Amino acid sequence: MDRKPASLDWRTTSPSELMAVYDRWSNQYDTDLQRMHGYRVPKVAADSLARYVPREATILDLGAGTGLVGEALYELGYRNLYALDGSAGMLEQARQKGVYRDALLHMIGVDSPPRIPFNAVIAAGLFGPTHVLAKMLGEVVSWLEGKGGHLVFTLRADEYDGDSDFAAAMDELTSSDAWRLLEDVTPFKGLPKSDPDRLFRAWVFQVPRRGDAASSGKERPVDSR
Ligand SMILES: C[S@@+](CC[C@H](N)C(=O)[O-])C[C@H]1O[C@@H](n2cnc3c(N)ncnc32)[C@H](O)[C@@H]1O
Repeated sequence: MDRKPASLDWRTTSPSELMAVYDRWSNQYDTDLQRMHGYRVPKVAADSLARYVPREATILDLGAGTGLVGEALYELGYRNLYALDGSAGMLEQARQKGVYRDALLHMIGVDSPPRIPFNAVIAAGLFGPTHVLAKMLGEVVSWLEGKGGHLVFTLRADEYDGDSDFAAAMDELTSSDAWRLLEDVTPFKGLPKSDPDRLFRAWVFQVPRRGDAASSGKERPVDSR
Protein backbone atom coordinates (compact mmCIF):
# COMPACT_ATOMS: atom_id res chain seq x y z
CA MET A 1 0.00 0.00 0.00
CA ASP A 2 1.41 3.38 -0.96
CA ARG A 3 0.92 6.34 1.28
CA LYS A 4 2.22 9.87 1.09
CA PRO A 5 5.61 9.59 2.79
CA ALA A 6 5.47 11.25 6.20
CA SER A 7 8.89 12.81 5.55
CA LEU A 8 7.84 14.43 2.27
CA ASP A 9 8.60 18.14 2.12
CA TRP A 10 6.04 19.55 -0.33
CA ARG A 11 8.04 22.78 -0.60
CA THR A 12 10.99 21.12 -2.31
CA THR A 13 8.96 18.80 -4.51
CA SER A 14 8.99 19.67 -8.24
CA PRO A 15 5.70 19.50 -10.21
CA SER A 16 6.68 16.18 -11.82
CA GLU A 17 7.72 14.71 -8.47
CA LEU A 18 4.44 15.96 -7.01
CA MET A 19 2.47 14.12 -9.69
CA ALA A 20 4.52 10.96 -9.00
CA VAL A 21 3.71 11.25 -5.28
CA TYR A 22 0.00 11.52 -6.07
CA ASP A 23 0.23 8.64 -8.58
CA ARG A 24 1.67 6.38 -5.89
CA TRP A 25 -0.76 7.63 -3.24
CA SER A 26 -3.87 7.41 -5.42
CA ASN A 27 -5.05 3.92 -4.29
CA GLN A 28 -4.89 4.90 -0.67
CA TYR A 29 -5.79 8.61 -0.83
CA ASP A 30 -9.52 8.33 -0.06
CA THR A 31 -8.97 5.98 2.86
CA ASP A 32 -6.23 8.18 4.32
CA LEU A 33 -8.03 11.47 3.85
CA GLN A 34 -11.42 10.33 5.01
CA ARG A 35 -10.62 7.80 7.76
CA MET A 36 -7.46 9.33 9.22
CA HIS A 37 -8.15 13.01 8.63
CA GLY A 38 -11.96 13.31 8.37
CA TYR A 39 -11.30 15.45 5.27
CA ARG A 40 -14.19 17.91 4.76
CA VAL A 41 -12.77 20.32 2.18
CA PRO A 42 -14.43 18.78 -0.94
CA LYS A 43 -17.86 18.70 0.71
CA VAL A 44 -17.65 22.30 1.94
CA ALA A 45 -16.52 23.44 -1.53
CA ALA A 46 -19.33 21.49 -3.25
CA ASP A 47 -21.98 22.84 -0.85
CA SER A 48 -20.69 26.37 -1.44
CA LEU A 49 -20.92 26.00 -5.21
CA ALA A 50 -24.43 24.58 -4.92
CA ARG A 51 -25.69 27.77 -3.28
CA TYR A 52 -25.06 29.67 -6.56
CA VAL A 53 -24.72 27.36 -9.55
CA PRO A 54 -27.75 25.73 -11.20
CA ARG A 55 -27.82 21.92 -11.31
CA GLU A 56 -27.67 21.79 -15.12
CA ALA A 57 -24.36 23.70 -15.25
CA THR A 58 -21.22 22.13 -16.68
CA ILE A 59 -18.59 22.06 -13.97
CA LEU A 60 -14.84 21.58 -14.25
CA ASP A 61 -13.32 20.01 -11.14
CA LEU A 62 -9.81 21.40 -11.20
CA GLY A 63 -7.24 19.26 -9.40
CA ALA A 64 -10.02 16.70 -9.06
CA GLY A 65 -7.72 14.09 -7.57
CA THR A 66 -9.68 10.92 -6.82
CA GLY A 67 -13.00 12.67 -7.37
CA LEU A 68 -14.20 13.51 -3.86
CA VAL A 69 -15.57 16.86 -5.06
CA GLY A 70 -17.30 15.16 -8.01
CA GLU A 71 -18.89 12.66 -5.68
CA ALA A 72 -20.20 15.45 -3.43
CA LEU A 73 -21.53 17.41 -6.41
CA TYR A 74 -23.17 14.30 -7.87
CA GLU A 75 -24.96 13.74 -4.58
CA LEU A 76 -26.21 17.33 -4.79
CA GLY A 77 -27.73 16.60 -8.21
CA TYR A 78 -25.03 17.80 -10.64
CA ARG A 79 -24.52 15.57 -13.68
CA ASN A 80 -22.34 17.58 -16.10
CA LEU A 81 -19.05 17.09 -14.31
CA TYR A 82 -15.53 16.97 -15.75
CA ALA A 83 -12.42 16.04 -13.77
CA LEU A 84 -9.02 17.55 -14.54
CA ASP A 85 -5.76 16.56 -12.87
CA GLY A 86 -2.08 16.17 -13.65
CA SER A 87 -1.81 12.76 -11.97
CA ALA A 88 -2.94 9.81 -14.10
CA GLY A 89 -3.23 7.64 -10.99
CA MET A 90 -5.53 10.08 -9.19
CA LEU A 91 -7.62 10.54 -12.34
CA GLU A 92 -8.06 6.79 -12.71
CA GLN A 93 -9.59 6.70 -9.23
CA ALA A 94 -11.82 9.64 -10.19
CA ARG A 95 -12.93 7.84 -13.35
CA GLN A 96 -13.88 4.76 -11.36
CA LYS A 97 -16.30 6.77 -9.23
CA GLY A 98 -18.56 7.02 -12.30
CA VAL A 99 -19.65 10.59 -11.60
CA TYR A 100 -17.70 12.44 -14.31
CA ARG A 101 -18.49 12.66 -18.01
CA ASP A 102 -14.77 12.72 -18.72
CA ALA A 103 -11.43 12.90 -16.93
CA LEU A 104 -8.73 15.10 -18.45
CA LEU A 105 -5.04 14.57 -17.85
CA HIS A 106 -3.79 18.15 -17.73
CA MET A 107 -0.90 19.95 -16.07
CA ILE A 108 -2.16 23.33 -14.86
CA GLY A 109 0.35 26.02 -15.76
CA VAL A 110 1.79 23.93 -18.57
CA ASP A 111 -1.00 22.70 -20.84
CA SER A 112 -3.31 24.98 -22.83
CA PRO A 113 -6.81 25.65 -21.47
CA PRO A 114 -9.19 22.67 -21.61
CA ARG A 115 -11.71 22.79 -24.45
CA ILE A 116 -14.86 22.17 -22.47
CA PRO A 117 -17.71 24.70 -22.42
CA PHE A 118 -17.89 24.81 -18.63
CA ASN A 119 -19.94 27.30 -16.59
CA ALA A 120 -18.11 26.85 -13.31
CA VAL A 121 -14.75 25.77 -11.97
CA ILE A 122 -14.25 24.25 -8.54
CA ALA A 123 -10.84 23.61 -6.97
CA ALA A 124 -10.55 21.99 -3.54
CA GLY A 125 -7.11 21.46 -2.04
CA LEU A 126 -5.39 22.52 -5.26
CA PHE A 127 -4.17 26.07 -4.72
CA GLY A 128 -1.36 26.75 -2.28
CA PRO A 129 2.34 27.62 -2.20
CA THR A 130 3.34 23.96 -2.63
CA HIS A 131 0.80 23.04 -5.32
CA VAL A 132 -0.72 25.50 -7.80
CA LEU A 133 0.50 29.03 -7.14
CA ALA A 134 -1.42 32.29 -6.74
CA LYS A 135 -0.41 33.54 -10.19
CA MET A 136 -2.52 30.77 -11.74
CA LEU A 137 -5.74 32.21 -10.29
CA GLY A 138 -5.78 34.85 -13.01
CA GLU A 139 -5.28 32.21 -15.69
CA VAL A 140 -8.20 30.14 -14.42
CA VAL A 141 -10.35 33.28 -14.31
CA SER A 142 -9.43 33.89 -17.97
CA TRP A 143 -10.75 30.41 -18.85
CA LEU A 144 -14.17 31.50 -17.57
CA GLU A 145 -14.27 34.91 -19.21
CA GLY A 146 -15.55 33.69 -22.60
CA LYS A 147 -19.05 32.97 -21.25
CA GLY A 148 -18.73 34.15 -17.67
CA GLY A 149 -19.24 31.75 -14.79
CA HIS A 150 -18.42 30.85 -11.23
CA LEU A 151 -15.17 29.96 -9.51
CA VAL A 152 -15.07 28.21 -6.15
CA PHE A 153 -11.78 27.40 -4.48
CA THR A 154 -10.27 26.63 -1.12
CA LEU A 155 -7.03 27.49 0.62
CA ARG A 156 -5.53 26.67 3.96
CA ALA A 157 -6.24 29.70 6.14
CA ASP A 158 -2.58 30.05 7.13
CA GLU A 159 -1.62 30.14 3.44
CA TYR A 160 -4.05 32.99 2.80
CA ASP A 161 -4.16 35.13 5.92
CA GLY A 162 -1.83 38.04 6.31
CA ASP A 163 0.49 39.16 3.62
CA SER A 164 0.29 36.19 1.28
CA ASP A 165 0.69 35.94 -2.50
CA PHE A 166 -2.87 34.63 -2.57
CA ALA A 167 -4.33 37.63 -0.72
CA ALA A 168 -2.44 39.95 -3.09
CA ALA A 169 -3.51 38.07 -6.26
CA MET A 170 -7.12 37.97 -5.08
CA ASP A 171 -7.13 41.70 -4.27
CA GLU A 172 -5.75 42.42 -7.71
CA LEU A 173 -8.51 40.38 -9.42
CA THR A 174 -11.11 42.21 -7.35
CA SER A 175 -9.74 45.69 -8.03
CA SER A 176 -9.50 44.98 -11.77
CA ASP A 177 -13.14 43.80 -11.79
CA ALA A 178 -12.04 40.40 -13.11
CA TRP A 179 -14.38 38.77 -10.61
CA ARG A 180 -16.94 39.63 -7.96
CA LEU A 181 -17.11 38.00 -4.55
CA LEU A 182 -20.37 36.17 -3.87
CA GLU A 183 -19.38 34.40 -0.67
CA ASP A 184 -16.44 34.27 1.71
CA VAL A 185 -17.25 31.02 3.49
CA THR A 186 -16.78 30.98 7.26
CA PRO A 187 -13.37 29.42 8.00
CA PHE A 188 -13.84 25.72 8.74
CA LYS A 189 -11.96 22.71 10.07
CA GLY A 190 -10.93 20.74 6.98
CA LEU A 191 -9.03 17.94 8.73
CA PRO A 192 -10.96 17.63 12.00
CA LYS A 193 -9.60 14.22 13.02
CA SER A 194 -5.89 14.74 12.47
CA ASP A 195 -5.44 18.51 12.68
CA PRO A 196 -8.46 20.03 14.43
CA ASP A 197 -6.86 23.45 14.87
CA ARG A 198 -6.11 23.94 11.18
CA LEU A 199 -8.66 26.14 9.45
CA PHE A 200 -9.47 26.26 5.75
CA ARG A 201 -11.10 29.00 3.70
CA ALA A 202 -13.36 28.85 0.66
CA TRP A 203 -14.70 31.52 -1.66
CA VAL A 204 -17.33 31.73 -4.38
CA PHE A 205 -16.63 34.29 -7.11
CA GLN A 206 -18.59 35.27 -10.15
CA VAL A 207 -16.48 35.90 -13.25
CA PRO A 208 -18.28 38.21 -15.68
CA ARG A 209 -18.28 37.62 -19.38
CA ARG A 210 -15.42 39.52 -20.99
CA GLY A 211 -16.60 43.11 -21.53
CA ASP A 212 -19.16 43.03 -18.69
CA ALA A 213 -18.00 44.69 -15.47
CA ALA A 214 -17.77 42.39 -12.44
CA SER A 215 -19.38 44.98 -10.22
CA SER A 216 -22.56 45.24 -12.30
CA GLY A 217 -25.64 43.15 -11.68
CA LYS A 218 -26.83 41.37 -8.61
CA GLU A 219 -26.90 37.65 -8.02
CA ARG A 220 -28.94 35.71 -5.55
CA PRO A 221 -28.09 32.24 -4.29
CA VAL A 222 -29.97 29.54 -6.25
CA ASP A 223 -30.51 27.53 -3.12
CA SER A 224 -30.80 29.15 0.26
CA ARG A 225 -30.49 26.00 2.39
C1 LIG B 1 -4.70 17.65 -2.23
S1 LIG B 1 -5.15 16.91 -3.76
C2 LIG B 1 -6.86 17.47 -3.84
C3 LIG B 1 -7.68 16.53 -4.67
C4 LIG B 1 -9.19 16.78 -4.56
N1 LIG B 1 -9.59 18.05 -5.11
C5 LIG B 1 -9.60 16.66 -3.12
O1 LIG B 1 -9.96 17.69 -2.52
O2 LIG B 1 -9.56 15.54 -2.61
C6 LIG B 1 -4.36 17.98 -4.97
C7 LIG B 1 -4.54 17.49 -6.40
O3 LIG B 1 -4.03 18.51 -7.26
C8 LIG B 1 -3.33 17.89 -8.32
N2 LIG B 1 -2.37 18.86 -8.83
C9 LIG B 1 -1.39 19.50 -8.13
N3 LIG B 1 -0.71 20.33 -8.94
C10 LIG B 1 -1.26 20.20 -10.19
C11 LIG B 1 -1.01 20.79 -11.46
N4 LIG B 1 -0.05 21.72 -11.64
N5 LIG B 1 -1.78 20.42 -12.51
C12 LIG B 1 -2.76 19.50 -12.35
N6 LIG B 1 -3.05 18.91 -11.17
C13 LIG B 1 -2.32 19.27 -10.10
C14 LIG B 1 -2.69 16.67 -7.70
O4 LIG B 1 -2.38 15.68 -8.66
C15 LIG B 1 -3.78 16.22 -6.72
O5 LIG B 1 -4.65 15.28 -7.31
